[in-house]
Amino acid sequence: MFGKKEVSSTSNANLDPTRIPNHIAIIMDGNGRWAQKRHLPRIAGHKQGMQTVKTVTIAASELGVKVLSLYAFSTENWKRPSSEVNYLMQLPIKFFSTFVPDLVKHNVRVMVMGDITKLPAGTQKAVNDAIKDTADCDGMILNFALNYGSRDEIIRATKHIAERVAAGEISSKQIDEQLLSQNMMSAKLGDLANPDLLIRTSGEERISNFMLWQIAYSELEFTDVYWPDFDRTSLEDAIIEFQGRHRRYGGLKNN
Ligand code: FPP
Repeated sequence: MFGKKEVSSTSNANLDPTRIPNHIAIIMDGNGRWAQKRHLPRIAGHKQGMQTVKTVTIAASELGVKVLSLYAFSTENWKRPSSEVNYLMQLPIKFFSTFVPDLVKHNVRVMVMGDITKLPAGTQKAVNDAIKDTADCDGMILNFALNYGSRDEIIRATKHIAERVAAGEISSKQIDEQLLSQNMMSAKLGDLANPDLLIRTSGEERISNFMLWQIAYSELEFTDVYWPDFDRTSLEDAIIEFQGRHRRYGGLKNN
């Protein structure tokens, strides 16, 4: 399913190009505060945040990351003022209308987690077109979480499994980690569904309903940088910190 890991290109001598995390997930936070600091409307922060998505996507792909999951719109973000929600719904349209050729050039495939059927028709079309237009790319997967919430994901998986048990298709004894994982929205990522590294920008240290099942053993990193200021160097710094961690997965020895 996944292409060969590309040779990483980096100018940072401290970064080990042979130990790049396969799956990086990012909670992109701080757009509003970035704008506020500049006396700009909040949407200016989201607009700049979209540029950062482009920068970080290319950087991650060049570094050899296999999956980049980005929390773009949560099931809770509908509570924001409608003018801001409307702007956020336009962003995927703006993003894909100009960026799909670059994604294809970098062999990046677009995927989505979340219930996109609740998004405006134009947004759904932009997302579905991008998925189709990049379907043959076998490099990095750019996995957007759109109208995604982890509790919603877990409830849907539970309901689906309960229905299968009730229909006699499976026995409750067959419910295990693997079956749950297969019913999560991340199932299409196969072996790469679980992030190795989760980054949250803007100084907040919360998970905010993002990939709760999948981050059980992820390394967590919190940076004070606002998302619009996050760049290739910030990503490399996060990876360097990751490379200094010792993942034990509940055991005693380093892996
Ligand atoms: C959180 O910052 C950010 C969001 C809710 C939206 C994230 C969206 C983008 C970065 C652009 C996405 C681009 C595409 C292509 C879909 P915040 O508004 O909560 O910031 P604050 O905490 O400083 O107010």
